Amino acid sequence: MDTEVLVIGSGLAGLMAADLLSAEKNVTIITKSALGKSNSRLAQGGIAAVTTSDDRWTHHFFDTIRAGGFHNNEELTELLVRKGPQQIQQLIEMGVRFDRNANGQYERCMEGAHSVPRILHSGGDATGKELVNTLISRVKDRCTILENHLAADLLIKENECYGALVMNETGETFTVSAAYTILATGGAGQLYSVTSNDSSVTGDGIAMAYRAGAILSDLEFMQFHPTMFAGAGSNSFLISEAVRGEGGMLLTRDGERLMEGIHDQLELAPRDVVAREIAKEESVVYLDISMIKRFHKRFPTIAKRCYQYGVDLDSGRIPVKAGAHFLMGGVVTDRYGRTSIPGLFALGEVANTGVHGANRLASNSLLEGVVFANESARWIMQSDRKWIPYFTENKRMKVSEYRLSIDRLREVMDRHVGISRSNEGLTTGISQLEWRGKFIEADTKEDVVHFNMLQTAWLMSTSAIMRTESRGGHFREDYPYQKQRFKQKRIIRRISQDDWIETEERSRAIFH
Ligand code: SIN
Repeated sequence: MDTEVLVIGSGLAGLMAADLLSAEKNVTIITKSALGKSNSRLAQGGIAAVTTSDDRWTHHFFDTIRAGGFHNNEELTELLVRKGPQQIQQLIEMGVRFDRNANGQYERCMEGAHSVPRILHSGGDATGKELVNTLISRVKDRCTILENHLAADLLIKENECYGALVMNETGETFTVSAAYTILATGGAGQLYSVTSNDSSVTGDGIAMAYRAGAILSDLEFMQFHPTMFAGAGSNSFLISEAVRGEGGMLLTRDGERLMEGIHDQLELAPRDVVAREIAKEESVVYLDISMIKRFHKRFPTIAKRCYQYGVDLDSGRIPVKAGAHFLMGGVVTDRYGRTSIPGLFALGEVANTGVHGANRLASNSLLEGVVFANESARWIMQSDRKWIPYFTENKRMKVSEYRLSIDRLREVMDRHVGISRSNEGLTTGISQLEWRGKFIEADTKEDVVHFNMLQTAWLMSTSAIMRTESRGGHFREDYPYQKQRFKQKRIIRRISQDDWIETEERSRAIFH
């Protein structure tokens, strides 16, 4: 099969790129499960942008880099926040309906580490669903769509990308040749037992890009969301930070305010700070929602899930715990989503544009998805990369024979590569996540996904052991402070090369 543009993944960034590019190019979307099943669809809080006269791009910029532990790529962060208002306008023109108040003005809410309320939302707490559904209705007749197909590996010849090896539901493989291949596969939350992420988010793009020889970085920075519902076992779902933005308070079992004396922004401190405080508590932590009027109306998705899980909202308290939420690191890209491999682009959570630094500011991820999809589409439209059919016979995907079960892998990640890390724990974890050894042919999509999870877990843990400091989402109990030596330094990973710790400038110099 041939196509000009191959988009792998169907979250917001992939759908946006597909929509824009389909105006001029032939686009194929490959998605592992149903179209649109992604983290984007689950996004509750909303999309951050400067849309009032009392806010400034500089305020949004500073909030972003302060939450990011000053690890951000400042040039691209400036681009992100400056483009915010224009992107909101584009989404409205595409048909997205943001919530308005009784006077017809857009409602803007507050979330952690923002200095002013600037989060636009849809359907109360169903922003991602509105965005994804709007884009699906636009792309479905304009692109070729392969649902329930897994991109198993990238097709690389002389360090250039020409598409992907794809597996169908029965495990048969075929190649899709493409002039431009866009990875938009999301992050890796499913590597942990408690996560807000969709079941399809298993680090596939990270592992594929690594095997292809792309440069990756910042994989030690995993964000844990402070307020996931604390049900029995791993039963959980997200309780949006917007609930704390509306006044929700974190209380200990004894009714004390958890964040008192910890941070001046209390419950709205950066997520890494709040998540660590919750994780430190030995007994259950509650989110007090008693002060939020008409909770069911403002947060219908959360109210429905609470009802399904038997939480009595009239009690005014929801038990919460932290869970894996967003991977800041990923495949290193420039402004146009270009990776270090010509022909290969990365967008959304799988990419590392550097705009989130070491810890993403709430509601900046949907914005990142649309801003960089636009930049990338613009670059691709004015380029004319030659499209070379990639011929291969009986290409089969090889996976490591030595594999932990997925449950065991999650236990290792929870225990050793979680909210709090140490040299000792990481060393133990890494020894259990080893994947190099004997290889066998993959028979099913599940075999490939399992291998991707293992490789991504290994990359994250081996990156975490190299960063002997604490910054943003990476907390080392044996090195609890930031170190000057690591300021603006990235841990760069590339297969078949020595891994290294280098500056942003050096990794950018490698780009074609
Ligand atoms: C939330 O609603 O709390 C999640 C929003 C985000 O992660 O940006």
